[in-house]
Amino acid sequence: MILPRHVYYLTDSRYSLDARRHFGRINVVECKKSAFDSVADLVSKRKVHSLGFDERHLVVVSFRRLKKALTRKVRLIGTQGLIENIRAVKRENEVAAIRKALCFHNECYQYLKTIIRPGQAEHQILEKLERFVLRHQQIFSFPPIIASGPNSCLPHARISDRKIKKNDLVLVDMGIEVNGYKSDLTRMFFLGKIPHLVREVCEAVAQAQRLAIAQIKPGVLAKDVDSCARNFLKEKKLGAYFSHSLGHGIGLEVHEKPGLSPRSPSVLEKGMVLTVEPGVYIPGRFGVRIEDMVLVTSQGAKVLSGLI
Ligand code: GLY
Ligand code: MN
Ligand code: MN
Repeated sequence: MILPRHVYYLTDSRYSLDARRHFGRINVVECKKSAFDSVADLVSKRKVHSLGFDERHLVVVSFRRLKKALTRKVRLIGTQGLIENIRAVKRENEVAAIRKALCFHNECYQYLKTIIRPGQAEHQILEKLERFVLRHQQIFSFPPIIASGPNSCLPHARISDRKIKKNDLVLVDMGIEVNGYKSDLTRMFFLGKIPHLVREVCEAVAQAQRLAIAQIKPGVLAKDVDSCARNFLKEKKLGAYFSHSLGHGIGLEVHEKPGLSPRSPSVLEKGMVLTVEPGVYIPGRFGVRIEDMVLVTSQGAKVLSGLI
């Protein structure tokens, strides 16, 4: 709870000790009752008149319980994105954690190059990748997507027991987490011959990504970056196969503000960290997505992930 002069972090006994150890000037309150009763006690103690809450995170049943628990008359005000907007711009230490995640992420892709082979099933590759990550005492930021052959036409394919074939392509979308900060990249692996259409699609997706990255700088509308990639793919007659948004902010969560989408109201600011991930998915045949992470600087976008 954020008050004009004090900040309270309410948690239960499972986390209170850890929170006290790490939270510096934030007052840690260990909830002995329900979270709602503990909020109500604090509201009474600090004589709060108006209480804002994030209406995208408080489900209706919790809102009702909070209202019921309050013992004094309090105006409840629904808000959106107060914290997310602050979080969209990263501090140096946050970018440093993201860079660290990307550093090990790079090693994962180098390792994948040595194990993605015909005859291996997707879940066998996942098993090896998981062991590699654990052996290095690292963690994933989300369950990896390993989609081979026609499975790659599903943007968020589930891992299957499909065995990789001689001339397959394999899409790997994964992320690593360091101190809570996440990475999220997608790379394509090719085994053997690359069919002409696949090559053309890959070149178009890579060019769409380059053009979009070149647009990124402070003051630019996020939706204009999206339309830059989208329009290019339309020109190449591939627009109908680019079904999701171009990218998203990333930090403590894999998907955070700002969204790079046709509907995004966001304006880019220095210090934002974004993914740029155009994709073309031809139903039943194959899909290609290339996802990189960039930092918005005063000069433009600095690619953090580089070529892997
Ligand atoms: N891996 C989820 C995404 O690329 O947004
Ligand atoms: Mn991804
Ligand atoms: Mn992503």
